[in-house]
Amino acid sequence: MLFQMKNINVLYDKVQALIDISLGVERESIVALIGANGAGKTTILRTISGLKRAADGEIWFEGQEIEKKPAHEIVRLGIIHVAEGGNLFPYLSVLDNLKMGMYLRKGKEARGDLDIVYQKFPILKERSSQLAETLSGGEKQMLAIARALMAKPKLLLLDEPTLGLSPMMTLEIGKIISEIHQMGIPIILVEQNARLALKLAQRAYVLETGRIVLEDRVEHLLDNKHVKEAYLGG
Ligand SMILES: Nc1ncnc2c1ncn2[C@@H]1O[C@H](COP(=O)(O)OP(=O)(O)OP(=O)(O)O)[C@@H](O)[C@H]1O
Ligand SMILES: [Mg+2]
Repeated sequence: MLFQMKNINVLYDKVQALIDISLGVERESIVALIGANGAGKTTILRTISGLKRAADGEIWFEGQEIEKKPAHEIVRLGIIHVAEGGNLFPYLSVLDNLKMGMYLRKGKEARGDLDIVYQKFPILKERSSQLAETLSGGEKQMLAIARALMAKPKLLLLDEPTLGLSPMMTLEIGKIISEIHQMGIPIILVEQNARLALKLAQRAYVLETGRIVLEDRVEHLLDNKHVKEAYLGG
């Protein structure tokens, strides 16, 4: 197992947002987290990234316990978090946003990655000198994902990458996620679009009010009565 969360509890003041969460990610796989608003999906990603501390429990990545590590060290280990909305620098150009993704690295190697990213996202190349704030919603999401790729992720955390996007742009982002998977990069994918998430992932966890209520390979979850009724529209 590349990544494991074991019995994680997270509190916001007195409110418990995560209750005894355990989950794992195999190498080169996509794991989906699905669940309604407020279920705790974002909190799981923030806890992994070191942006929120767990009250107890363990987080393991490539054989190291990382739960106590500060966020900047976790990034250096290759866990790259694309937050909801992308956290772009709105008043920097597309190119400068991409460069922010590779600040940990240098020179020629990074230049090569920029070419690869531009190949994958030709629209970003076209718009490279434009301010990020002028991009469409879908383009912003692409830029956020592209910037994460510039950081050479060993584990990519995606928080609602299709939120607010048109059906067509949602398909496009889905295609990009599956290409990233084909590159061998493991992903934890948080999605309210359960149908898309279960199409892309191999394994999924269903989260309800801070607890994992179901976990399985996606082909089993797609057959599950509760999943069908609650998340796939019957
Ligand atoms: N900074 C915070 N302070 C207090 N409570 C918080 C904070 N962030 C989240 N919560 C609470 O923790 C719970 C889980 O929130 P979280 O954002 O993880 O859910 P989510 O599954 O990502 O929801 P959504 O689908 O709306 O993004 C919610 O009850 C939320 O109100
Ligand atoms: Mg969220």
